[in-house]
Amino acid sequence: MTRVAVITGASRGIGAAAAVEFGRLGYAVVVNYHSRRDAADSVVEAVDQAGGKGIAVAGDMRVREDAAGLIRAATENFGRVDTVVCNASTPIKQAAFADMPWEDFATKVTDELAASYHVTQLALPVMRAQRYGRLVYVSSGQAERPGAPGMIGHGSAKAALNTFARYVAYEEGPHGITANVVAPGYVRTDSSAAAGTAQIEAHIAARTPLRRVADPLDVGRVIAMIGSENSGFATGITVPVNGGVTLAP
Ligand SMILES: NC(=O)c1ccc[n+]([C@@H]2O[C@H](COP(=O)([O-])OP(=O)(O)OC[C@H]3O[C@@H](n4cnc5c(N)ncnc54)[C@H](OP(=O)(O)O)[C@@H]3O)[C@@H](O)[C@H]2O)c1
Repeated sequence: MTRVAVITGASRGIGAAAAVEFGRLGYAVVVNYHSRRDAADSVVEAVDQAGGKGIAVAGDMRVREDAAGLIRAATENFGRVDTVVCNASTPIKQAAFADMPWEDFATKVTDELAASYHVTQLALPVMRAQRYGRLVYVSSGQAERPGAPGMIGHGSAKAALNTFARYVAYEEGPHGITANVVAPGYVRTDSSAAAGTAQIEAHIAARTPLRRVADPLDVGRVIAMIGSENSGFATGITVPVNGGVTLAP
């Protein structure tokens, strides 16, 4: 039997790295993308080269019909849904709380939760029928403590995601389904490049016990570990992937 992983926002960054890691484990991988078909096609090629079988599927994960299309693509092409990685990056509007309009805050929190809510709920009937499922939510260390100014919307949204994941773990455990959170610190991707600079990276690396910032593969490997068969008795946990930066005073 070939295991099947569905990964949202897998055309770039952390999602792309996770997709290739699942390919290395021999999985069939549904590579979701939002707008960059070219990038998703390259990831599919990399998944195939790694030993898996990839397909690219477009969809905005905030939209229920698109999430349904993703799960349908998995079942129609591969017959199962073993793993869902909720990773899609939703837009961030950075502002200090005092200056943040309610609409921007509410949009961020709603987008973040919608992008996990729909695909999770739609995958559950398939996973329950299999009596097997691995749900992985890509959160952020900023859910636990402020990491940078202007990130209150992002941090609050990710904190809500962490709690959502624990409830899913609690309710779905009896069906053989696990739900866990992977919480990266700063990772060098297109999203962080928009906010980060070489100076910021150097500052973070200097405070990090492992003395560097993460690349997407650092996180993708942990997602594949938590999202595969080997983690069958771990559920409702949050795994930080941050080089130990939170150990710093
Ligand atoms: N980078 C960091 O430092 C960092 C730190 C902590 C947590 N995270 C979290 O890690 C996750 C991935 O971030 P990243 O930095 O790897 O992002 P990224 O490199 O900017 O890539 C974003 C991915 O999300 C997709 N996407 C955007 N909007 C989407 C939507 N509405 N529906 C489906 N897919 C959508 C993009 O698709 P297209 O390519 O088609 O546009 C792309 O594949 C996010 O949840 C982010 O919050 C990142």
